[in-house]
Amino acid sequence: MTINLAKYTCIFALIVSLYSCKKNDQISENRKISFNENWQFLLENSLNSDTLNTNWKTLNLPHDWSIEGAFSKKNPATYNGGALPGGIGLYVKSFKIKKNDSLKNHFINFDGVYMNCEVWINDNYLGKRPNGYISFQYDLTPYLNYGENENTIKIKVDNSKQPNSRWYSGSGIYRNVWLVKTDKLHINNWGTYITTPKVNSDKASIKIETTIINDYKEQKKAILKTKVLFKTIKIAENSSQLNIDAENKFSTSENLTIANPNLWSIEKPQLYTLISEIYIENKLVDSYETTFGIRSFKFDLEEGFILNGKSVKIKGVCNHHDLGALGAAINTRAIERQLEILKEMGVNGIRTSHNPPAPELLDLCDKMGFIVMDEAHDMWEQSKTEFDIANNWKEWHKKDLEDLILRDRNHPSIFMWSIGNEIPEQWNIRGAEIGKELASIVKSLDNTRPITAAMNPPIITNNEVTTQFENIADKPNSLAASGALDIIGYNYAHKTYEKHKINFPNIPFIATETTSGLATRGYYASKSDTIKRWPYRWDIPFNDGNIGNTISSYDQVSTPWGSLHEETWKIIKKNKNLTGMYIWTGFDYLGEPTPYVWPSRSSYFGIIDLAGFPKDVYYMYQSEWTDKPVLHVFPHWNWETGKDVDIWAYYSQADEVELFLNEQSLGIKKKEGDELHVMWRVPFNPGTIKAVSRKNGKEVLIKEIKTANQASQITLNPDRNSIKSDGVDLSFVTVTVIDKKGTMVPNAMNNIQFTIEGPGKIVGVDNGDPTSHASFKASNRNAFYGKCLVIIQSLKKEGEIKLTASSSGLENTTVSINTQK
Ligand code: GAL
Repeated sequence: MTINLAKYTCIFALIVSLYSCKKNDQISENRKISFNENWQFLLENSLNSDTLNTNWKTLNLPHDWSIEGAFSKKNPATYNGGALPGGIGLYVKSFKIKKNDSLKNHFINFDGVYMNCEVWINDNYLGKRPNGYISFQYDLTPYLNYGENENTIKIKVDNSKQPNSRWYSGSGIYRNVWLVKTDKLHINNWGTYITTPKVNSDKASIKIETTIINDYKEQKKAILKTKVLFKTIKIAENSSQLNIDAENKFSTSENLTIANPNLWSIEKPQLYTLISEIYIENKLVDSYETTFGIRSFKFDLEEGFILNGKSVKIKGVCNHHDLGALGAAINTRAIERQLEILKEMGVNGIRTSHNPPAPELLDLCDKMGFIVMDEAHDMWEQSKTEFDIANNWKEWHKKDLEDLILRDRNHPSIFMWSIGNEIPEQWNIRGAEIGKELASIVKSLDNTRPITAAMNPPIITNNEVTTQFENIADKPNSLAASGALDIIGYNYAHKTYEKHKINFPNIPFIATETTSGLATRGYYASKSDTIKRWPYRWDIPFNDGNIGNTISSYDQVSTPWGSLHEETWKIIKKNKNLTGMYIWTGFDYLGEPTPYVWPSRSSYFGIIDLAGFPKDVYYMYQSEWTDKPVLHVFPHWNWETGKDVDIWAYYSQADEVELFLNEQSLGIKKKEGDELHVMWRVPFNPGTIKAVSRKNGKEVLIKEIKTANQASQITLNPDRNSIKSDGVDLSFVTVTVIDKKGTMVPNAMNNIQFTIEGPGKIVGVDNGDPTSHASFKASNRNAFYGKCLVIIQSLKKEGEIKLTASSSGLENTTVSINTQK
């Protein structure tokens, strides 16, 4: 009987909690709605321009006007900024607010606008935000019309003064915009802060701080109900009576306990939802959702990074924010695809170099399990480019940093704050002064995560430390010595890592940025064991290199301040106290085509090219960083007869690899010592290269590379055959040029044209060539070393999209992609 009663009570509680969650969903859904659609846009330089001007274009946000422009040497962004145009953009949107919402508050939230964003509502000036990466909100309430009277919001975005960035920034309202509707008594923007002061496997204590705004002209009595859900099931709740003064801000704090918490980890990133509700006289007036996670961690001097009691090596990458052919305009699926490709490689960490990221990136990292280093700045008060945000440092640095921490501090994926990247002030006393100021701002808002900075290199004294930065190694790094940092962040200088314990006996280590290896996907130079450090020095123009600005895809070229991929990883791998590394970079990005200059316009640093195709070194990491058996053999097998070709294999879960050419063995190789690849030097003869990996004599994997004949066909391979019919979702289609037998033609550069039928459109084309000046917004693209990419976006209609690829002399191909609700 008792058992039954308990069972019924449980089921009843479940029904009640599911019911109450459903009710809330509606309120929180209406609270924040997308404000992306139907904007008028004009690329102009005066807000007084004729609004009837026919150049006004209707578009949906997120929007980046630079990516639609033409590459030119003359663009003031320079090749380092991606050689695309900037300018001034105007956005206008008209909208109505229902009469019965006239007692509500209305806000507009911008996730990020590049840059110098100014906003007017019904000709009332709301303000200016110079920082192009920060999220911000304006209160529209005092200026709104209701009912049939329209409201007009005007936005001016000024990215005309360039250069203002060391990489491609994009221009415009390139992140999401939201309209937020609340009661006059409501939870503040970013108004919850959830921490987990004590976590172990059977119990977690949760502290919830909530900030509430009372915009009523009178004092309000209210109830704050907080509920914690795990997968829609309520597992804890609390209720507090509040008395909030008229026109006041009020903060309250509660403590809850959760039994047997479902911990957040990289392998199982389990998330909780906090629902904060405000009731006035039993009526629900506000409901606000926050996602959070429960995990414990520390950076240990000896044991490295410990997550939930287990030691985890941080295997991270740095990325800039652009999404290749889509430019800076954020698209959640495009970010998710990048993270999927990285996860597949074994990456478990992301550094948001060198600025606050799109909120969607952090949401995805929460869901997918990445260790994020959230970075605030690339410069403080000293500029790196003439018109950069250092010019606004004095007025804005405090607010920008506060807003970053307030926005991001509930994300379980964030484990470190970085207060700056290679800040020039690190070499003088301002480094210590500003470092301490910023650290205290961060600590005042979040004391649960350590603070680091990406320094180059963090030398306190020259004692026993050797570095390749001879000229600066004699100078002490004032930021590193300041005591402001909880973790010492190294950019490069991998030869100093094993001296970390001597230099900083009491502060843990992180390699904030490493490697800067260089490669062009699909291009191979012999001999593969000749190492090149390009450019020769960072401050001397590089006029050497390969014809066509290519770089060999064997891991044989790096910048002199960095290392080959294998060099840094070997050091991090063997030292337990070295908590981990963030490689420069996961993906290629627009701008900074080191070591080259124009006509190159995008980077060579990526482990994955700009189109999202992995370079060969991707598989070195995969063989080291994942549990799955790997055998990757390269290069292709189309060379001049008799030429010596180096064949490399990355492999794992095996103890040897045997290589065959046309069924004749070329010998067995094993990685010796700390080696990460094996190599054969083979005179070229056409045919088939076959590699067989074996463990204890048993075959693990077989890989074949065949000599390709003439190009004859195209294959289209969508990453997803079915996408949402929401007008936003994307399918990334890999286009490969193959011969009659289906072998990729490794040097194919054929121009491929795309036509599309049905409820979809082409939103980008690319091929990963860092020197191409063809538009990303076209319906054709040259293949680059056998491949290119076309990105399809759904329209708001269900149906079948048919994409056809054609090219002179090749057979046409068509592929179908379905769009569904
Ligand atoms: C670093 C810098 C990065 C990028 C990289 C290229 O010094 O932090 O932003 O410029 O060099 O190697």
